[in-house]
Amino acid sequence: MAESYELRGKYSKLDDPEPDSPFHRSLEDAYQSSSEEDLDEFDPLNYDAGTLKRKKTRRPRGESLHGKDTYPSEKTSQKTGWRRCCVPTRLCCGLILLFVAAVVLLLSAGGIWAWKTAPVDGQSPSWYPTPKGGIDAAWEESYKKAAALVRQMTLVEKVNITTGTGWSMQLCVGNTGPVARLSFPSLCLQDGPLGIRFADNITAFPAGITVGATWNKELMYQRGKAHGLEAKLKGVNVILGPAMGPIGKMPAGGRNWEGFGSDPYLQGIAAAQTIKGIQDEGVMATAKHFIGNEQEHFRQSWEWGTPNAISSNIDDRTLHELYAWPFAESVRAGVASVMCSYNQVNNSYACGNSKLLNGILKDELGFQGFVQSDWLAQRSGVASALAGLDMSMPGDGLRWADGKSLWGPQLTKAVLNSSVPMDRLNDMVTRIVAAWYQVGQDDKETWPMPPPEGDGGPNFSSWTNERIGLLHHGSDDKATGVVNKFINVQGEGDDFHGNIARKIAAEGTVLVKNDDNILPLDRNGWKDSEKEGKEMKYRVGIFGEDARSNQNGPNSCKDRGCNVGTLASGWGSGAVEFPYLIAPVDAIRNAFNEDSTYVTDWPANKLPTEQEGILYDQDLCIVFANSDSGEGYMQSDGVRGDRNNLFTQKGGDYLIKKVADSCGNGTGSTIVVIHAVGPVILEDFVDLPTVKAVVLAHLPGQESGNALVDVLFGDVNPSGRLPYTIAKKEEDYGPTSKILTYPNGLIPQQNFTEGIYIDYRYFDKYNVTPRYEFGYGLSYTTFHLSSLLINPKSFRKTLLPAPRPQTIDPPSFDNTIPDPKTALAPNGFRKLSKYIYPYISSTSDIKVGKYPYPPSYDTPAELSPAGGAQGGNPDLYSIQAVITATLTNTGPVDGDSVVQLYISYPENYVDEETGEPVDFPVKVLRGFQKVHAQGGNARNHRAEVRFELTRKDLSYWCSRRGNWVMPTTEQFTIRVGFSSRDLPLVGKF
Ligand code: BGC
Repeated sequence: MAESYELRGKYSKLDDPEPDSPFHRSLEDAYQSSSEEDLDEFDPLNYDAGTLKRKKTRRPRGESLHGKDTYPSEKTSQKTGWRRCCVPTRLCCGLILLFVAAVVLLLSAGGIWAWKTAPVDGQSPSWYPTPKGGIDAAWEESYKKAAALVRQMTLVEKVNITTGTGWSMQLCVGNTGPVARLSFPSLCLQDGPLGIRFADNITAFPAGITVGATWNKELMYQRGKAHGLEAKLKGVNVILGPAMGPIGKMPAGGRNWEGFGSDPYLQGIAAAQTIKGIQDEGVMATAKHFIGNEQEHFRQSWEWGTPNAISSNIDDRTLHELYAWPFAESVRAGVASVMCSYNQVNNSYACGNSKLLNGILKDELGFQGFVQSDWLAQRSGVASALAGLDMSMPGDGLRWADGKSLWGPQLTKAVLNSSVPMDRLNDMVTRIVAAWYQVGQDDKETWPMPPPEGDGGPNFSSWTNERIGLLHHGSDDKATGVVNKFINVQGEGDDFHGNIARKIAAEGTVLVKNDDNILPLDRNGWKDSEKEGKEMKYRVGIFGEDARSNQNGPNSCKDRGCNVGTLASGWGSGAVEFPYLIAPVDAIRNAFNEDSTYVTDWPANKLPTEQEGILYDQDLCIVFANSDSGEGYMQSDGVRGDRNNLFTQKGGDYLIKKVADSCGNGTGSTIVVIHAVGPVILEDFVDLPTVKAVVLAHLPGQESGNALVDVLFGDVNPSGRLPYTIAKKEEDYGPTSKILTYPNGLIPQQNFTEGIYIDYRYFDKYNVTPRYEFGYGLSYTTFHLSSLLINPKSFRKTLLPAPRPQTIDPPSFDNTIPDPKTALAPNGFRKLSKYIYPYISSTSDIKVGKYPYPPSYDTPAELSPAGGAQGGNPDLYSIQAVITATLTNTGPVDGDSVVQLYISYPENYVDEETGEPVDFPVKVLRGFQKVHAQGGNARNHRAEVRFELTRKDLSYWCSRRGNWVMPTTEQFTIRVGFSSRDLPLVGKF
């Protein structure tokens, strides 16, 4: 087969090339012979069950202690010397070398120590073999088609689909190999949760945390759909989002803003709505990061100087009720892909943890798509394949951009020598191909093949902004072609995606204080009630750097990794290039009527003494501050991923106090606007009598200023609610809510001992009064709730769900191991350096034998009674009660209210069979609806709100039974209201 085998698609990605174009030359070159890459380092026996026992795994040699500091993520044109270069004296050089050598030695010694003391299977039980995809009727057709295609594939073709081609080898952040012979394209995988990373003419949507703060399911869906459409038009097959882990166990967690808030129910609904939106446009969504990636410090090996990533030690119940909940909702929504995270879970790497991937994700949650690794989160070859990983991303090995894949040729070899069973490879590839069919990407009209077969594939490059650029940026290949077609995907007219962005940014803005109804503002300045005796123009002063644009442009820092000017996104892979960014100061200026108002601004955080007078001459001061964070491979202003504290940054608190003290010489009113990645401690200023309003505008994306003006001037009545709790002091979140910033061992250990009690559950349990509770937010009108009705749907409550249903059979394959010769590269095949191919270099070391699979491999693990369909046992989603209530708008203006439902489990509950006491949170969110009601006694000032409670909503995870258990002997309390601490309607069920 190998002779006729072509990897052409790997080189493709261009306009129709002229016969003599560089693109064509690159293709021809590609088939000229060159020597094979060395494969000598791989040991197929090298499974470590994903544990810290790194056995014979290749250890990254001589790599930078800050591994991903060299993350070549910026586009060429923006490169500014990522790796700082100093020119020390010779002596200095020598000393540095000595020091580095000593540290490396110590760390290696430490590695040996870890190797010697670590338990063989970590502390995570094993779960083998990997459940096969294709057992859910909702995927039946796609699996049929996929199996038919996969049955025609050769071994190397299969491997090509499972392994990325290497960092920056093609145009997207992740690219798989194609099977051009069967018209299966190379897949383009691109970040990220808030837009299309590294692309032009796209929309910079508000971040996840802003979306969560809208509590608006329809907007969550619309954002996903617009994002999906943009991806499709840019040729992206797989979006690397939404993010739902971290969930926010630590309020300072650097990437909390990529997700939707610190509650599993809210996070789950928002994730599922986003996924449905994305996939309804035919693009595969990725639920990430599975699981326990709650902080940036030590998230991955070597990035923070430790040889191993942090271990998030999570008990079974907490895992189910908190961290896995949003993933279950994502799987239930049909998500095509799940990304396993960098960290370890219970001392076993998440991407090699069989309990998590095989057991929980694929068996219990019935996940039918494919598991991809986070970028370099794969830490073993055979072990991760057996543990349930299906796709290696970006394909490189243990080190960044090293081209030494743990899979690729090594996977081919592992299958040939039987250390990875052929049926595992068949399952991996079928899962990927089935996901591709499931979203309809086989439709060649919408998804034409990449060149030379068609003109599809990605039409932008992640590595340059130029039209013509390198085709294989990360390799030694100099072939160039058209890499950026600058296609505008932002929509037009009514369909302009900026409109959705603006709506979300406005609805995701939370008003937490509004004394004397200072908001909404009047465009003419003085309000009617204040006008008397006021002859002068209304004077408005705008203060703070966060009000203005970054003078070097909103994209001047790589991956938005600096806090300059107004903050509209966090930083890292979850950020995009802003097409534009409306600065608040400009929008506010435009909003005021200049005939009757006078607007001044001082958009800096420092007020020089001689300029303080500027504060005295104001009737109204609007002061801006912010708090930023991002992904751990970058740092900004001393913040390395995770925030150092929860205060505003860059002197924000001081500025706010100064403005509030001096505005109008003590007679003016101050409005505080904060852009932030999560909760901010407001105590320094929130109670000052001159601070009349506090507006939390989160991370609004490109429409920042416009959306803020919509809220400040009342065009949009605020309906955002906090997707997290704001404490009075950081300690109030609890002793385990702090980022671990110093390693407490060679494998940093983080014990999630607070269990299910994070955020408001913690505050409730320990009776801590927050400043503003989860779910809180004000409106320009008032609402009243009445007529609570609880309608039980099932008359006979049962402790456990119905037995796991029968599933359909997965496709079967011929699992014969092919002749190793078929896995050699075709004659004359020219390899590009560091590019990952599936070929082996020689057949001499292929020996089929009895390989030591993990001990439990041959005794299939027991299937979970909680499984049986996507999202788990379908009976978990049977409706147990319908709850209705009436919302009345009792105020002067129209508005939306977020009506929230919380349940309390029976008090002092003991297990009905064993008599063991079960501890429950005081309350948990189990429903929310955003409801519109007209104000001013209009006819439609009432609206009915309806909630459905499922069995899972009313159950807890019982580790002993390995199942969800619903108390049946005692009553639940149902509370309906406006926030987690304002719940006027109470009933029993
Ligand atoms: C991040 C992922 C991202 C990937 C690709 C990783 O560093 O953790 O969220 O999708 O890079 O950019």
